[in-house]
Amino acid sequence: MQFNVKGITFNHDDLEKVELTEIKTETISHAHYFHMLSDTRAILILRAGDFVEPSFITKYLEKGMNSLHQLSIINKEDLLVYKQKWSQLKVAKTQILQMKVRDELIKKVSNDFWHSNEKSFLSFVIAAYEEFYQFEPLVLENFQEKSMIMYTRTLLTSSIATLVSLCNGIVDYKFIKDMYNTTFLLDYGMIAYDNFSYVMAQACEAERNRPGSGPDYLVKLKRSEREINLFKNHPELSYNIARDFEKDFTYPEVLDLILLHHEKCDGSGFPKGYSYSGISDTATLLMFCDYMIPFEEHIFSVGDGQRVLYDYFKDLSSNESKYLLPINKVLASWEGMMVWAKDINQKVVDECEEEVAS
Ligand SMILES: [Fe+2]
Repeated sequence: MQFNVKGITFNHDDLEKVELTEIKTETISHAHYFHMLSDTRAILILRAGDFVEPSFITKYLEKGMNSLHQLSIINKEDLLVYKQKWSQLKVAKTQILQMKVRDELIKKVSNDFWHSNEKSFLSFVIAAYEEFYQFEPLVLENFQEKSMIMYTRTLLTSSIATLVSLCNGIVDYKFIKDMYNTTFLLDYGMIAYDNFSYVMAQACEAERNRPGSGPDYLVKLKRSEREINLFKNHPELSYNIARDFEKDFTYPEVLDLILLHHEKCDGSGFPKGYSYSGISDTATLLMFCDYMIPFEEHIFSVGDGQRVLYDYFKDLSSNESKYLLPINKVLASWEGMMVWAKDINQKVVDECEEEVAS
């Protein structure tokens, strides 16, 4: 029998019964977990990608629930490889070694998610989170509590930030870590002071699809001055909060990029109205992540990696308004690396070369 619970489709045979105490806490859930009311009714208890607080386990144990049914999403071996690659980059002593790890990591990402539709991006998301996330759990919990759209989106954009840095020749582990954590806070100002409304999410999505249209969307719907100002000022609000964490950054100047993530080539952006020359190349990396990922709740699933890495990239590449964003170089380097990194069947290459030689 096929189930469809809150957008998650699965068969009963896909589920595996696990003890509640086996679920790892204080990290991101590797799987969806269901409580089976009967053979035909399942209740979603925990989503893959959710942050698992220890109190979650206690709460259900106290209710007398000792086991749940697990729907695995990630490939544990992939998670391990990604974690190993980040560890190798961390200890790589020379630039040549750093580049070697960078190439291996991009090759794996490209083959797992760009050229294949069989894996979940969640493996990469968890590896990046466990390697780089440096804030107290409260920041992550705040996202999760205020808006699942912003929570899942932030996990994706921050992970993409590490990849786009690598694709653009950045191999300094500490700089990549700072890029991850800076991206985490890009829109934190939107949720830190208030609940994130559905209309605000729509305004953000309008802005993403047609840069510059977000504030107009709110004005058209006659939203309050407060809400419109929150939208327009969120880069500064996010930046002000981010500065409280600046001692944890190796390169605290990376945080300045938060201020630039909604500026535009023609000076029509906000909050300052800088134009092309006022936007640094590094700022365009964060812009790329921010405009690539839609404002919608992402449901992690087997095969979603290609949607995130390839489909969302293609959507951004073909966006008619992208001329307003100085991201052409970043788009080219992303696609260039992903295409380059495809595994080549060496045997076929050798045979071709032998044929040519004879
Ligand atoms: Fe933003």
